[in-house]
Amino acid sequence: MRVLRLSTEGFRMLAPASIELGSGVNVICGENAQGKTTLLEAVYLLTLNRSFRARTDKELIAFGAERAFIDADVEAGGRQQRIELCYERGRRRSVKVNKVKKSAAELSDTLKAVLFCPEDLQLLREGAAERRRMMDNAISQLRPGYRKLLSSYNTIYENKCAILKNWREDASLLEVLDEFNEGLCRYSARICRYRAAFVRRLEEYAAPIQREFSGEREALTLGYKTVSTVTDPMAEEVAIYEQIALRQSELRRAELESGQCLVGIHKDDMEVELNGLSARSYASQGQTRTAALSLKLAERELFTAETGEQPVLLLDDVLSELDQRRQEFVLNHIRDGQILITCCDESSVARLSGGQVFRLEGGRVL
Ligand SMILES: Nc1ncnc2c1ncn2[C@@H]1O[C@H](COP(=O)(O)OP(=O)(O)O)[C@@H](O)[C@H]1O
Ligand SMILES: [Mg+2]
Repeated sequence: MRVLRLSTEGFRMLAPASIELGSGVNVICGENAQGKTTLLEAVYLLTLNRSFRARTDKELIAFGAERAFIDADVEAGGRQQRIELCYERGRRRSVKVNKVKKSAAELSDTLKAVLFCPEDLQLLREGAAERRRMMDNAISQLRPGYRKLLSSYNTIYENKCAILKNWREDASLLEVLDEFNEGLCRYSARICRYRAAFVRRLEEYAAPIQREFSGEREALTLGYKTVSTVTDPMAEEVAIYEQIALRQSELRRAELESGQCLVGIHKDDMEVELNGLSARSYASQGQTRTAALSLKLAERELFTAETGEQPVLLLDDVLSELDQRRQEFVLNHIRDGQILITCCDESSVARLSGGQVFRLEGGRVL
C-alpha cells in the first residue's frame, strides 16, 4: 500500500499543499515544531480516522480556520483510490472513499499503516495497559470484528465494576452480577484466543528482526499472560471459559470486598524476554527500545503475510533515539514498501541511499 499524493488544507499548521510521496523511503526533515509529526498524522488519519495524538477533531483544524481537509490518492487493494476527510467545527467529520461517504470502520479497510513514535520506544517499560493496547490495535487491523468484541467486553466490564463498587448501597445490584460474570468469562475466552494467536505469530516475525538488530546477540521470545487458571489460551473456547469461570468463582468474595473486578482479559499482558530474561526487568534502555521497534516491524510483516498488502510504515522521530549502528539497521532493514520517517538531523538523511527527502519549515514543504 502506498500514499501517492497527499493534500491538506486547514490542517493544523500545515500550509495548504499537495505533495507526491515516493514509493520507498520518504524522509521528512526539519527542526522542531515545523510540522513533521503533523504530516505523519495526516497520513495516519487516512487509515483509521482517529489520530494518535489528538483527543478531539477540533484540535486538527488550524487555528482560525473553520474546517480541515485531507485529500489523498492511495494505492490499496491493488488499485488507486481516493480518500477525502473533512473535519468541521461543531460538525461530524466526513469521510469519503472514491467520492462515496463511508464510516470510519469502512475506512480502516482501505489503507493500513503501522506507526512508531518516540513514546512507543518505552513500550516494554510501561505498564501492561500499553502492551494490551498494542496487541488490540494490531489485532483490530487484522481481524474484522475484534474491535467490536473488545467494546462489548468493556461494556460488561464497566457494568460489573459499577456493581462491585455500589452493591453495599444497593444490594439489588447483586441480582444481575451473575449475568455480567457470565458475559465477562464468555468474552474473555474469545478475546484470549485472538490475543494468544497474535502473540505467537508476532514472535515468529519479531525474533529474526531482533536477532539481526542486535548483531545476532539477542534472542527475543514473547509470552502471552492471561488469567492464571488458563492452561492453554489457544484451546477450545469452552475450555478457556470454564477455566476463567473457575478463577472468577474463587475470587468472588475478594471482588466483592475489594470492589474491583479481578478476573478477566483486562489484566492481560505480553511478556517480552531477551535471552530468556524479562526485558522489562533486566534489559538495558537500548535493548528495550530496539525490542519495541522489532515488535512494530514484526507487526507490519505479519500484516503483510496475512493480507498480501504491506502497510505504510510511519516512523516519527525514532532515529535520533538510536545509536548509529541501529539507525543504519532501521534505514537498511526496512527497505520494503513505503516508509515515512521524520527526523531533525541532516546526518541521518546523508546515511540514506535512495529515497526522497522533504524539508519542512513552518508547515511548508520546501
Ligand atoms: N490546530 C492547529 N493549528 C495551528 N497550529 C497548530 C495546531 N495544532 C498544532 N499546531 C502547531 O504545530 C506545531 C507542532 O507541529 P509538529 O508537527 O508536532 O512539529 P514537529 O516538526 O516537531 O513534529 C506546534 O508549534 C503547534 O503549535
Ligand atoms: Mg514531531
